[in-house]
Amino acid sequence: MSIAGLAFSLLRGLDPERAHRLAVWALRQGLGPRQVGADDPILATRLWGLEFPNPIGLAAGFDKDAEACRGALRMGFGFVEIGTVTPKPQPGNDRPRVFRLPKDGAVINRYGFNSKGIAAAAERLAARGAGIVGANIGRNRESADALADYAAAACRLAPVSDYLVINVSSPNTPGLRALQDRAQLLQLVSMVRVAATEGSGGETRPLLVKIAPDLTADDKRDIAAVAMESHVDGLIISNTTIERPASLKSRRRAEAGGLSGAPLFAPSTALLAEMYRLTGGAIPLIGAGGVADGAGAYAKIRAGASLVQVYTALALRGPDILPGIKRELAGLLRDGGFDSVTQAVGADHR
Ligand SMILES: Cc1cc2nc3c(=O)[nH]c(=O)nc-3n(C[C@H](O)[C@H](O)[C@H](O)COP(=O)(O)O)c2cc1C
Repeated sequence: MSIAGLAFSLLRGLDPERAHRLAVWALRQGLGPRQVGADDPILATRLWGLEFPNPIGLAAGFDKDAEACRGALRMGFGFVEIGTVTPKPQPGNDRPRVFRLPKDGAVINRYGFNSKGIAAAAERLAARGAGIVGANIGRNRESADALADYAAAACRLAPVSDYLVINVSSPNTPGLRALQDRAQLLQLVSMVRVAATEGSGGETRPLLVKIAPDLTADDKRDIAAVAMESHVDGLIISNTTIERPASLKSRRRAEAGGLSGAPLFAPSTALLAEMYRLTGGAIPLIGAGGVADGAGAYAKIRAGASLVQVYTALALRGPDILPGIKRELAGLLRDGGFDSVTQAVGADHR
């Protein structure tokens, strides 16, 4: 076990939110682990004109306020997504609001977009240094105009980030998921695109939409249609689920909020494959949900993901999992006869 792994096992004894804050603080101070050596070249991948050293990213929610992105990139993530950031600072829900489900390899959270706001995030992003960082944006809980919130966040964060994510899928802000509705989503995407381009002085930024795993067949068709029609640059599949599978065994399984980790792997991968089919493979997808090893990342890629994100496995098992995920993925790509990640994307559909 590495020194960082050892330090992490101490964090595991703490309340999960306190452990999370300490982990962010350590990365911010430059006390986190550092990748040894360069990534295996088979993992390098190019998307939206960006060169990703590897396809494994840190999912939104860990670094909500862009404090730890430099440290997370040094650890060896191929990219980091900060946020969700709301326009104004807000405290989020009352504590406790995050729970470990150790017997299930899962977490339930109802943070509710605790955010230091776009001004603080923009300042930190501007000073972050090299590496690919996306900004995930949301609305303030008390806002009367959700669309204006997204536009304000896009305008402020587009110039200091490599891609933008419209988060319409967190279960902890009332009414948020309704923005996945066809008409609302179309309007939202076009407003955000205009605001992002204005904010960046005419430059465009890749614009992605992050969706929930709890969608009806009609929702999925509508989202695919909107994504194609409005030329979004990518979909992130998926956020946490409000479902509670009967298989859950941990004491905290009935807590309100979004469930992530191992129980989300199968449904989020099935949704990823379905959205790949519905969009004819024309829109890059980022797969998130329950990835804990190289096999999980490989399965997401074969199902249609161009990139993969991880959060819960890192929170439960610590930073030592990252080099293993990358090593195993490189081996699986070679065993599958692929020369690159791109070649394997959507392989299950061929
Ligand atoms: C504690 C926690 C907080 C999260 N906060 C956010 C968030 O602010 N915005 C967001 O888009 N997703 C958020 N997520 C969802 C993750 O980005 C990811 O989509 C989901 O957890 C599935 O991946 P995983 O199973 O690897 O965790 C959060 C997840 C967790 C566990």
